[in-house]
Amino acid sequence: MDKRNVALITGVTGQDGSYLSEFLLSKGYEVHGIIRRSSVDYRERIAHLEGKPNFHLHYADMGDSMSLVKVVGKVLPTEIYNLAAQSHVQVSFDSPEFTADVDATGVLRVLEAVRTNHLEKTCRVYQASTSELYGKVEEVPQNENTPFHPYSPYAVAKLYGFWIIKEYREAYNMFCCSGILFNHESERRGETFVTRKITLAAARIAQGKQDCLYLGNLDSLRDWGYAKDYVECMWLILQHDKPEDFVIATGVQHTVREFATLAFHHAGIELRWEGEGVNEKGIDVASGKTVVAVSEDFYRPTDVVNLWGDPTKAKAELGWNPQKTTFEELVKLMVENDMRKVAADDAASRVRTNLAEYLEKGLVK
Ligand code: NAP
Ligand code: GDD
Repeated sequence: MDKRNVALITGVTGQDGSYLSEFLLSKGYEVHGIIRRSSVDYRERIAHLEGKPNFHLHYADMGDSMSLVKVVGKVLPTEIYNLAAQSHVQVSFDSPEFTADVDATGVLRVLEAVRTNHLEKTCRVYQASTSELYGKVEEVPQNENTPFHPYSPYAVAKLYGFWIIKEYREAYNMFCCSGILFNHESERRGETFVTRKITLAAARIAQGKQDCLYLGNLDSLRDWGYAKDYVECMWLILQHDKPEDFVIATGVQHTVREFATLAFHHAGIELRWEGEGVNEKGIDVASGKTVVAVSEDFYRPTDVVNLWGDPTKAKAELGWNPQKTTFEELVKLMVENDMRKVAADDAASRVRTNLAEYLEKGLVK
């Protein structure tokens, strides 16, 4: 029996990869992450970990089997967390083939890298699966037995990932599991996901650095949790006595409009909503100015509009607390972070004003 605690994380530079690295390091793990070469610095989320004795980075790519086989063979991990993905649903409509290669075939490549190195018996594999599998939902709330109905190229690719994990579990007796995670957000969330787009814009608008925030479907419902709480569950899933799949969610849902109302409130702006559909506007009650408007540029060809997870199994079998950070606390901590960020970094905020202008013109999703 391999007693070492050696984790390999794909997607280490992402929101979840950075929190998971911190979590595993705090548990005494040797943590290895795979990174891609880029012409710009994209390692902001893990910069504070680089140089730590138990934290190591390796170049590899989800599209490059040989690189994955080599890293797995060098690191000999006892646990692999496969978090790497083209994770933006709207972008998956623009780059469906790339999304399929990384998010579907990439999972197969990781599993085959484990087999090629004969680690099936000693290495457990976590797959970052998603509530997007429920897509055009067939029941609410969604649990481990809810039928899947993927509704974007991203979700279709992730469905392959889910099934290939299950197949390798059954065919080769491997300890590999999917966490079906509902949306989870944080101060480190990518800036084009709706929550972070809102909290950054609310902070900029409150500080006079942006005029208006343009959003798509305000009625969309999500079950939003805190990423820092969710990475603990990834680890718990791999410590379980048998390999199983789990829904990870808070069990509470809110609309995009509700998220925006609360975020602007924490930035000091009370919103009043007027109009419907593409004509709906969020008006600053104090100034009478329109600070939120709808742009069809952010509508999706098919949109998932009613995600609501049932975390009963994770609570009962993993002892996980889905309400550790509430929706209200999550929105507040994200806005407070972005208020500080926008205020402190004047030079950066000038760059961001350009981004805000692009966002306003609908050039960046
Ligand atoms: P994220 O912030 O977008 O991070 C994605 C990571 O994948 C980044 O480290 C990225 O590297 C890496 N990556 C992308 N393409 C790659 C490739 N070809 N080779 C190697 N690495 C590649 O995503 P996240 O929010 O942390 O989510 C982590 C995982 O959970 C993803 O698989 C996502 O689909 C899934 N998930 C997320 C949520 C959520 O609400 N956050 C919910 C359910 C499931 P670069 O930095 O180089 O781009
Ligand atoms: N991004 C974005 N931008 N979404 C918007 C906007 C906008 O301006 N306006 C409205 N929305 C709506 C989207 O149409 C969607 O219904 C909802 O807000 C959430 O969008 P995102 O924050 O982009 O997240 P997502 O739910 O599509 O995908 C995220 O969660 C999945 C789990 O359910 C990603 O993290 C995926 O990787 C993850 O699998």
